[in-house]
Amino acid sequence: MPNEILNVVALQKFFFTTQGTVRAVDRVSFSITENETLGLVGESGSGKSTVAYTVVGIYAPTDGKIYFRGEDRSQPVAKRPKSLKRAIQIVFQDPGTSLNPRRTIKQILELPLKVHHLTAGDRKLEVANLLRRVELPADYMYKSPHMLGGGERQMVAIARALATEPKLIILDEPTSALDVSIQAKIINMLIKFQEEMNLSYLFITHDLSLMRNVATRVAIMYLGKICEVAYTAEFFRNPLHPYTKMLLSSIPVVLEEEEELKPTKVISKGEIPSPVNVPPGCSFHTRCPVRKEICMQADPEMVEASEGHFVRCHLVSGQEAVASS
Ligand SMILES: Nc1ncnc2c1ncn2[C@@H]1O[C@H](COP(=O)(O)OP(=O)(O)OP(=O)(O)O)[C@@H](O)[C@H]1O
Ligand SMILES: [Mg+2]
Repeated sequence: MPNEILNVVALQKFFFTTQGTVRAVDRVSFSITENETLGLVGESGSGKSTVAYTVVGIYAPTDGKIYFRGEDRSQPVAKRPKSLKRAIQIVFQDPGTSLNPRRTIKQILELPLKVHHLTAGDRKLEVANLLRRVELPADYMYKSPHMLGGGERQMVAIARALATEPKLIILDEPTSALDVSIQAKIINMLIKFQEEMNLSYLFITHDLSLMRNVATRVAIMYLGKICEVAYTAEFFRNPLHPYTKMLLSSIPVVLEEEEELKPTKVISKGEIPSPVNVPPGCSFHTRCPVRKEICMQADPEMVEASEGHFVRCHLVSGQEAVASS
C-alpha cells in the first residue's frame, strides 16, 4: 500500500480476570496511510481504547502484529526504540488526568523537547511556540494544569503530542468531555496540524456524525471486532452492516438527499453483550434485526463488498441483500 504508516494485523488483546477472559480486541486488522484519518467508532466497551493502548505499546498484544512504516513493532513500549515512541503519540479523553498536576505547563511541554539538547532560553522559546500553535497565550507556561479550563488542558495535551514531531497521533475521544464550541475549535486545529505536518490520525470516538467531516475512512467496532470499514462518503451513502445502519439511523443528517438515503430508524435490541461472554456465531446476532439461522452458528469473514468497502456480515457476503431497512 502506498505510504503506509500503520498496519495492524489480526490484533488480539485479552484480559485474564477472575470473571473470565475479556476478549477486548479480537483479530482486528486495519491500516492507516500517510496524511489519513481513520475514524474508529463504537459503543462504550467495544474495545476502542484497548486498540489504542496496544498500538501505542501501553499493552502488549495477546496475539497479532503491529507494523509501523513496514517494520514489526508489536513489542510493548518499554522495548520500543525512542524514535518510535516519538513517532506515535496519543491524546486521551480526559486532559485532567493525562497532565501531571504537580508540573507547570512549561515543565510538561519541555519534557518531550529534552532530546534536542536546547539551551534553557531556546527551550522556553520552543514552549512559547508550541502554545502559540494551539492558540494559547505564552504566559500560560507558568500555570499548572488545574488553572486551565478543560479545552485549554486538551490543547496543552495536543501541543505535547506535537512537540515530538510525530507521524501518527492516536486521538482517543479527544473532545467528548468538552463543550460543543470547544470541540469544534479543537477539531479544526487538528485538521490544520494534519495538513501542516502530514500527520496520520487514528481518531477514536463514539460519535459517528463527527466523523463525516474528519475521517478519510470510517471503521465500526463491535464487541472487540471491526464489522465494517469504508471511505467516508461511501460509508454514509451505502452502509452495509445492520449494526452500522442501526448507528446511522440514530444520528442527525445534514443534507436533504442524505435523509432519503438514511436507513429508517432501526430499533436497537438490547445492550452490548459482555466481552467475557461473546455470543457464538456473529457476535452481533443477539441485537440484529435481520439475523438468519447461519448468523447464530458461524462467525462471518470480512469480505470486500466493493473497492475499499469491507464488511463482516453473512447477509452481505452470502449475496443475500440485507433487507434495506
Ligand atoms: N485492564 C483491563 N482489565 C480487564 N478488562 C478490561 C481492561 N481494560 C478494558 N477492559 C475491558 O475491555 C473491554 C473494552 O474496553 P475499552 O476500554 O477498550 O472500550 P472502549 O471502546 O474504549 O469504551 P469507552 O467508549 O467506554 O471508552 C471492556 O469490556 C472493558 O471492561
Ligand atoms: Mg475508551
